[in-house]
Amino acid sequence: MTHDPLEALEEIRKDFDAALAQARVRGDAQLLEQVRLEFFGRSRGRLTGFLRTVKELPQAQRGPAGARANQLKKELEEALAAAAAGGAPQSAAGVEDLTLPGVPALAGCRHPITLVREELEQVFLEMGYAVEDGPEAETDFNNFTALNIPPDHPARDMQDTLYLAGGALLRTHTSPVQVRTMLARKPPLKIICPGRVFRRDAIDATHYPVFHQVEGLAVDESLSMADLKGTLLEMGRRLFGPKARVRLSPSYFPFVEPGAEFSVSCFLCDGAGCPTCKRSGWIEMGGAGMVHPAVFRHVNIDPERFTGFAFGFGIDRIAMVRYGIDDLRLLFDNDVRFLEQFRGAL
Ligand code: PHE
Repeated sequence: MTHDPLEALEEIRKDFDAALAQARVRGDAQLLEQVRLEFFGRSRGRLTGFLRTVKELPQAQRGPAGARANQLKKELEEALAAAAAGGAPQSAAGVEDLTLPGVPALAGCRHPITLVREELEQVFLEMGYAVEDGPEAETDFNNFTALNIPPDHPARDMQDTLYLAGGALLRTHTSPVQVRTMLARKPPLKIICPGRVFRRDAIDATHYPVFHQVEGLAVDESLSMADLKGTLLEMGRRLFGPKARVRLSPSYFPFVEPGAEFSVSCFLCDGAGCPTCKRSGWIEMGGAGMVHPAVFRHVNIDPERFTGFAFGFGIDRIAMVRYGIDDLRLLFDNDVRFLEQFRGAL
């Protein structure tokens, strides 16, 4: 970024020329309109924005910068008008100039969140899980009550949950899909559900009001905590390599008993401690446990006959450690310069 206003204008002119040349070579009216918006758009146009800030410049710079900006505005407007009138560039004979270099097609690529989600789906599909989907707007029953979360639980607070008009809410975790699945189908069940979840968080490098989780649920006649740990271990190895280990430590979630937090040994330092794992040797993944009998009763499954395990963890964090992304906001800004680095990533 330059601070000299005349240099800034020169930069705008250069970028404009390049953008306009692109649009002209393609002979694309839509592209031309994009160029117009980029530089002249009322709220975000670069030249419009510059003109708005001229009055804040130091007195000595104001005059020359204002004059140059106005002159540039005229020039660029004329160039745009000429381009709009001219259509595709033509040779003197009025025939399309086939010798002009072509414009490479801009191919998109997958978002890092999508890359990790698809990888996880593949891992669980191979373990016999079905991939489920659920709505982002949920009922209080599915998001809280059926999950044994009491009416006065802090997670239900307006401070934490985004409520919609009419009593619905934006799901705060993917766990309501457990409820939906068990209400809709009879065990045995093995499902995962990746999706977006919403919490009322202030935005910083590690918090965002939207993020991504994967929920897992298995229900059958004799599932135990050992099945849960084996499943998480398999996932850890597939995700981070054959040396990965999984650690469960006691924790509390109202919808599981016993409940645990689970971590995977750091794939970078193999447990020795490094900046990625904050020197702990472990990467915290999420929560897990055996489905609470109260949850089974809410969805009409006999807790005397069936047992089940569930787990839930964040996708964003896995993408961050995997790709060395140090700021969560990068995953949501949709800055092409960031996203195009994942072209060809696996
Ligand atoms: N839903 C919990 C969370 O968002 C995670 C979890 C899922 C815990 C399933 C236990 C079982 O924090």
